[in-house]
Amino acid sequence: MRDEFLPLTRPPIDEEDIAAVTAVLRSGWITTGAKTRQLEEQVCELNGAKDCAAVSSGSAGMHLVLEALDIGDGDEVVTPSMTWVSTPNLVLLEGAKPVFADVDRHTLMVTRETLEPCLTERTRLVVPVHFAGAALDLAPIRALCNERGITMVEDSAHAIGSEYRGEAIGRHGTSVFSLQAIKNVTTAEGGLICSDDVAFLERVRRLRFHGLAASAYDRKVQGRAPQAEVQEPGFKYNLPDIAAALGLGQLARLDSLIERRRQIAAYYTRRLEEIEELSPLGTPSWPFKHSWHLFVVRLDIESAGRSRDAFMEGLKARNIGTGIHFRAVHQQKYYRETLSLPQGSLPNTEWNSERIMSLPLSAQMGEADVDDVVDAIKQELRR
Ligand SMILES: Cc1ncc(COP(=O)(O)O)c(C=O)c1O
Repeated sequence: MRDEFLPLTRPPIDEEDIAAVTAVLRSGWITTGAKTRQLEEQVCELNGAKDCAAVSSGSAGMHLVLEALDIGDGDEVVTPSMTWVSTPNLVLLEGAKPVFADVDRHTLMVTRETLEPCLTERTRLVVPVHFAGAALDLAPIRALCNERGITMVEDSAHAIGSEYRGEAIGRHGTSVFSLQAIKNVTTAEGGLICSDDVAFLERVRRLRFHGLAASAYDRKVQGRAPQAEVQEPGFKYNLPDIAAALGLGQLARLDSLIERRRQIAAYYTRRLEEIEELSPLGTPSWPFKHSWHLFVVRLDIESAGRSRDAFMEGLKARNIGTGIHFRAVHQQKYYRETLSLPQGSLPNTEWNSERIMSLPLSAQMGEADVDDVVDAIKQELRR
């Protein structure tokens, strides 16, 4: 057994990143300023987005999007239940209703076919999720939303560096990315909203900081001009320079970080062929580039003879960390009690929710770490 615990992931922070943060700490300007603007510009260079606003988390970004779209009472927002709880929670907090679309059983992503039956005359927004670093089949989903006059905002929390049909995620439409601690690029906590709708992003920027006029940024003092006035009530979701400085170096080496993750994922795929009880996610059939945010497998709980949760505990005792991305939202306490969706309403989501777990994956891992994970899984299955 491994001596040291292998966590689900480790942030890819190097000495230069630490020096960059230290330089900000010494500079006398630690909150939102030049580094944050540099991060926004670097993201646009990377993915070709027209504009980008950095925020304090992906969830904050989604909150601002819902606000800027005036989503509220009586509105419905269609999103998968196989997602992080933040989106449905925020939809509810805005007074709107989350409507859950099922996902494809093997990619864990919504499709035109799973979204279509969820649309009603009250649907204002569709929030599909690029899952684990793979890309949604965007073209048919965009076409559906256009036909019905419904806005789409991509949940791209997992998809920094991912591509769909040769184009970076974030280039078109509106995307919300996460820079939270386990993401491929992290600022500890943070998020990015990319959009080709400049007027929309201008409102997002204003709402990001108390609703103050966004144009009042003063380069000399690296902040907002003190004369700026409230245009409408807003939030405080800005990203500080300390965090932005941490992200800049990772963004600059994103290609090599993803390439390393791809190699680890490819080795997992080869080694896991030896284990019948585990099946990795399916590869989408459309052209895309994977950024390998997560390596997700499904446990055959029938032949393993125990629940996925018990299996994860067994791996933990063998010094292997795992995660669940995700537990179906509609089956969690609050949603069970308020939505009362019967078992079987979202069959592919529910089937996966009981079986999925994410195996350790980071750019610092080597093949020996993958061997340790595979050995631990085999021992646990024999137990
Ligand atoms: C699919 C998905 N959406 C949204 C979020 C929210 O991002 P954040 O944690 O930065 O608020 C996450 C984050 O973990 C996520 O996995």
